[in-house]
Amino acid sequence: MATATATRTFSKAVARSTASATSSLRLAARSPRSNAAAKQFFQQSSRRHYSSESTPPKSSNTTAIYGSVAAVAALAGGYYYFSTQNTAGQDKKTGSVSVGSAGQSAGIFKPTAADYQKVYNAIAKQLWERDDYDDGSYGPVLLRLAWHASGTYDAATGTGGSNGATMRFAPESEHGANAGLKNARDFLEPIKAQFPWISYSDLWTLAGVCAVQEMSGPIIPWRPGRQDRDVAFCTPDGRLPDASKSQDHIRAIFGRMGFNDQEMVALCGAHALGRCHADRSGFDGPWTFSPTVFTNDYYRLLMEEKWGWRSWKGPKQYEDAATKSLMMLPTDVALIKDPTFKKWVEKYAKDGSLFFKDFSNVLCKLFELGVPFQSKAEDRIQFKPTIDES
Ligand code: HEM
Repeated sequence: MATATATRTFSKAVARSTASATSSLRLAARSPRSNAAAKQFFQQSSRRHYSSESTPPKSSNTTAIYGSVAAVAALAGGYYYFSTQNTAGQDKKTGSVSVGSAGQSAGIFKPTAADYQKVYNAIAKQLWERDDYDDGSYGPVLLRLAWHASGTYDAATGTGGSNGATMRFAPESEHGANAGLKNARDFLEPIKAQFPWISYSDLWTLAGVCAVQEMSGPIIPWRPGRQDRDVAFCTPDGRLPDASKSQDHIRAIFGRMGFNDQEMVALCGAHALGRCHADRSGFDGPWTFSPTVFTNDYYRLLMEEKWGWRSWKGPKQYEDAATKSLMMLPTDVALIKDPTFKKWVEKYAKDGSLFFKDFSNVLCKLFELGVPFQSKAEDRIQFKPTIDES
């Protein structure tokens, strides 16, 4: 429903932005209504495109997907044992347990894809209701939490990654790169309380998927199977990228996780969303004029605007010459300094559907790094965005 959807955007972002200057910036600085139009375009084009690719369309055989995932979730150890210590809903006389979203009893609760969709819907509801944060949405910081939980992966040793959610513990929670992510972790606590059977590791990545989809991004296939780990599995500091560095650093960090150049560029397109906070990273400002709507504007702005050093007391960062209200990190500009990276920036600037498709694939890959799934790739769930229902 186009009209209703048009009114449903995380709207503070545009109000905060400075809509003046060059024609391309005017294009980027969409009103909430035109954001919604762009969103609709992207949803339609990218999802249609995506659906014709490796994973089946969400509407045609959802039941089959759900059914197979239900089986897989159980096999994958995605079930949750309710011990007698876990007394939520426990019947004192019989010792049987009745907890979880499906209200199952006696021992083992086996979540189905429908149960994970309930978790998705609960996160989405909170995203829409709690719009008094930052640019009007917790979406960007939720995505950043999921990425930082996953981006510690080291392919050589098989350590790190989203399996474990070790950022719950110091020292990992106190790593400089994770500053501000407590906002996201705290946001998800009531959801965890509502669905105690889901692991934090699954919850955080599912929240990343929900954030992208609810901010009008592509469908990101997802599957359960992550197990939480204890403090001993915290990763050493320094595994996440340093924004003050150049292309060699980007290749070293993302190469360690197993990504190629194209995938690195696609991942960085997430910077269409959110902003830098001086009290977190030291950097300051948003990358785009619509930081709560997923678009390919990051690439368009990189290509179309003139970027010069900002003159200020903070860390070295770029600003757009025209409005001086947008920013780029040194690692962002490295994507147009490096000829191979730049080829992909150009492609994604021109073709939003290609970006959506590639981003979906690469984010799915990022969230699965190092997870010992017993399930198959084709058993991934495609969550239905609540934004489609409005
Ligand atoms: C070279 C790689 C990258 C570097 C150096 C980098 C660096 C940063 C920095 C410095 C911030 C600002 C944090 C703050 O002050 O709150 C940020 C924010 C963000 N990053 Fe990245 N990032 C990289 C890649 C990625 C990737 C791969 C993703 C996701 C797939 C991502 C998603 C985000 C999001 C959504 C935000 C906004 C968070 C918010 O608004 O609270 N970044 N990034």
